[in-house]
Amino acid sequence: MYEKIDLIAGLDIGTTKTSVIVAERDRYTGEAQIIGVGSVPSAGLRKGLIVNFEQVVRSVSYALEDAESMTGIRADSVFVCFSGALTTSITSKGMVSLGSTPRQVTEIDIQRVIEASLSEISMPNNYCTVHTIPVTYSIDGQRGIDDPLGMTGVRLEVEVQSIMSPTATVQNVVNCAERAGVSVAGLVIKPLASALGVLSPGEISSGVAVIDIGGGTTGISIYVDGALKRLTVIQIGGDHITNDIARVLKVPIEVAEELKRYVSLGEDFDAYDEELEFMVQGKRGFCSAGQVHEVAYNRLEELFDDFIKKELRDVGSILLPSGIVLTGGVAKMKGIAEMVSEVLNMPVRVANPLDSAKMPPGRNGSEYASLAGIIKYMNIIEKCPFKFIGPSITLTSTISSKRGRSYGEDVHGLRAIDFFKSVLNAIKRTFKELF
Ligand SMILES: Nc1ncnc2c1ncn2[C@@H]1O[C@H](COP(=O)(O)OP(=O)(O)OP(=O)(O)O)[C@@H](O)[C@H]1O
Ligand SMILES: [Mg+2]
Repeated sequence: MYEKIDLIAGLDIGTTKTSVIVAERDRYTGEAQIIGVGSVPSAGLRKGLIVNFEQVVRSVSYALEDAESMTGIRADSVFVCFSGALTTSITSKGMVSLGSTPRQVTEIDIQRVIEASLSEISMPNNYCTVHTIPVTYSIDGQRGIDDPLGMTGVRLEVEVQSIMSPTATVQNVVNCAERAGVSVAGLVIKPLASALGVLSPGEISSGVAVIDIGGGTTGISIYVDGALKRLTVIQIGGDHITNDIARVLKVPIEVAEELKRYVSLGEDFDAYDEELEFMVQGKRGFCSAGQVHEVAYNRLEELFDDFIKKELRDVGSILLPSGIVLTGGVAKMKGIAEMVSEVLNMPVRVANPLDSAKMPPGRNGSEYASLAGIIKYMNIIEKCPFKFIGPSITLTSTISSKRGRSYGEDVHGLRAIDFFKSVLNAIKRTFKELF
């Protein structure tokens, strides 16, 4: 799926902004070094979903141009991160016998055990897998094996996370990118990209939940004992806070956005009575900082109480000693770490991308976590292609593109049976690349 080239690029189609990251692969270490970030406001998305195709195509084109003007490089092939609204993840287990006497595990055995685990899944209608992730293996009951290849035993087991999105959603993302003149080499779902973008290996192995609160969606990835246990996308983000402020205080969205960025969510917010002044159609308006604080606090409290607590409860927050890592644009709200720590009764840190020092100033904050994560993802699959198995659909456009690329098959009709076949093919492909 992935061509060995020296320049690699990622495209993040977010609800608020569309951004492009360009990196150069070091010929000696193989590591990708970031050389530029393009970013423009998004249009045509709501709650993480494409609602106006042509507007999204334009946002992608502008983001590509912006990256080109910064780096002098025109990306023609990208890995695309998308918010993944309506995404769901399913855990399944597989087991295969290695024979009656112990022998070494081969790549064929790994392939068989993953296949066995996938045969358990019943995929929702009109969904496709975006990622198939073998999270942990066991041999003869010894659990927690990262890579069983070459190990000896009589019984191989695997736990697999299958991350699925509506096929039409995925196809729309691919079509938009292709229409903007760039081919799609791979896909990464936002909560996974954000986790890779901000988490240290120590946090992953001890147990942690990453929460990326963007403009239209909140992505959650939960790691327990070094393995991805759960991945969820909720269609609530910073736009909801802004809209609430606009509605309650009867101010335009732009004013509400400014007010949101000014106030703090923290308990120690001492400017509660501070009078804030704003202009609406040439007229002066006023509100108290406390009013804005309350509206923002209530919306976020609802997000955590009604949705995120359930995700954490299902896994068991006791299994997350590294607590919560908050990222995405909303993580920039003042006092948010304190507020979330109080609501969840867990340690919380706000995270910028691990590679923020290598990214351009102003384009390296928490809202770029998932963009930075795309490069991490590409680095991982370059080294270990079996860590993340790619989509179960062909990543080509179903429409004619500006560059007249070849048309893909009509993936809308893809059935569950094709899913197993295509995942198997993907596995076979990655193994071929490996050996
Ligand atoms: N300094 C700030 N203070 C408060 N909120 C902020 C700040 N900067 C950005 N935001 C909010 O963050 C949100 C955008 O975040 P982000 O850029 O991560 O979203 P996105 O990736 O485009 O969307 P999504 O991932 O949901 O599709 C907006 O609601 C914006 O108002
Ligand atoms: Mg985002």
